[in-house]
Amino acid sequence: MNNPFPNQKAMLHSQKQRTLFEEAKSYASEYLDDVLDRNVFPTENALENLNFFDEAIPDIPGDPAEMLRILHEYGSPATVASTGGRYFGMVIGSAFPPVMAAKWLATVWDQISALHVTSPISSKLESVCEKWLIDLLGLPENSVAGFVSGTSMATMCGLAAARYELLNRAGWDVINNGLFGAPPIRVVLGAEAHSTVYKALAMLGLGKERVETVPIDSQGRMIAEAVPNLDNNTLLILQAGNVNSGSFDPFDEICEKANQANAWVHIDGAFGLWAAASNQTKHFTYGIEKADSWSVDGHKTLNTPYDSGVILCKHAHALVSAMQATGAYILYGEHRDGMLYTPEMSARGRAIEIWATLKILGKSGVEELVNVLCTRAQQFAIEISAAGFQVLNDIDFNQVVVACPNPEQTTAILDHLQKSGECWCGAGNWHNTPVIRISVCSWATTAEDITRSVQAFIIAKRECSD
Ligand SMILES: Cc1ncc(COP(=O)(O)O)c(C=O)c1O
Repeated sequence: MNNPFPNQKAMLHSQKQRTLFEEAKSYASEYLDDVLDRNVFPTENALENLNFFDEAIPDIPGDPAEMLRILHEYGSPATVASTGGRYFGMVIGSAFPPVMAAKWLATVWDQISALHVTSPISSKLESVCEKWLIDLLGLPENSVAGFVSGTSMATMCGLAAARYELLNRAGWDVINNGLFGAPPIRVVLGAEAHSTVYKALAMLGLGKERVETVPIDSQGRMIAEAVPNLDNNTLLILQAGNVNSGSFDPFDEICEKANQANAWVHIDGAFGLWAAASNQTKHFTYGIEKADSWSVDGHKTLNTPYDSGVILCKHAHALVSAMQATGAYILYGEHRDGMLYTPEMSARGRAIEIWATLKILGKSGVEELVNVLCTRAQQFAIEISAAGFQVLNDIDFNQVVVACPNPEQTTAILDHLQKSGECWCGAGNWHNTPVIRISVCSWATTAEDITRSVQAFIIAKRECSD
């Protein structure tokens, strides 16, 4: 019989020789040598060179070494240096080198975390991380965790569990009957809930516009006294870490009220939930344990490599019911089966990197990481204020919101800054003002990186006013 896959011999040879792995290692080393000092955003030339990839799909097999070389030659310079110390865009964490190394090993394992039978090691590390996260964040002991791509997906899982539970209480089976004819669910959230919360509401058929919006204070925190009367068919969505200001909703007071009404509380804690792991910032998260579900990212504050989000839920039955999937070939067993807690079936072993990060940092390392990010954000705010920029937010956590005297200047300075390659910050609009958003989210950011970045702001300001 003909060999069904003509490249098989070459692939087996490659696996035995490992030359490509060695080459990849050497390209990666070159990349790492450069990443702390290079332009944060790719140069014009690097972007131009991306046109190299515009070709028709090859008709015949190509040379693997050449493929790898091309990827490094044209791909590496066109990356954003978010693993370095001067990237402050969105809320994007870096990745600890030892954890990248663990991820390399796990990439070669190529595990599917769906079931214990598809990957006992993923199953084990998910169980371990579940316990560790509950301990570190001070959440209820019997909570369960699902390992997903990020907070967008984690929030969708939390809201799906809430939808299941609230309707179940009302005698409605949403899994089998959907929402057609279902009793209504009230959704209450803060006026600055993250856009991914609205996305999740839309995907779950709960609607973006039929929500009750609670007023917020100047920092984007929900005003506790303004929360409407709640009841047991209410889904209340709170926030640990406003995407602009980094502020925290007053959880204790609001959760108390929600618990009395038997409402479901979900907390979007994408980057801010980690405040619970530090004595310096813990007070912002008092009361989070009274919620029902929480979404949080590894790939932001914790600096695990992408992609890594976690849904934590106090009600295992509700989450598992919302995520249920059956099939004759799906072999659930007595050990942890990860897909019970996530929408995906095939998914890489994401808990491996969370485990690796927590293993090397320990509780005190996570606390130190959180503290350092906060300290650097404060340094940024102090130095940039001294340079004549206006800081609009209280620096409670890792976010700094900056404005110039007028919106045109803000836009021009940001544009100059982004092109400078010295640092990268994103645009935002906060309380109807165009702003520059700074998110200090990388373990690699040093005090010198902050000063150098502030210098870039000063130069941009000078050149924009010339
Ligand atoms: C508060 C908040 N929620 C949700 C998200 C979305 O998270 P992800 O990109 O991991 O899906 C973000 C992203 O920055 C965020 O800041």
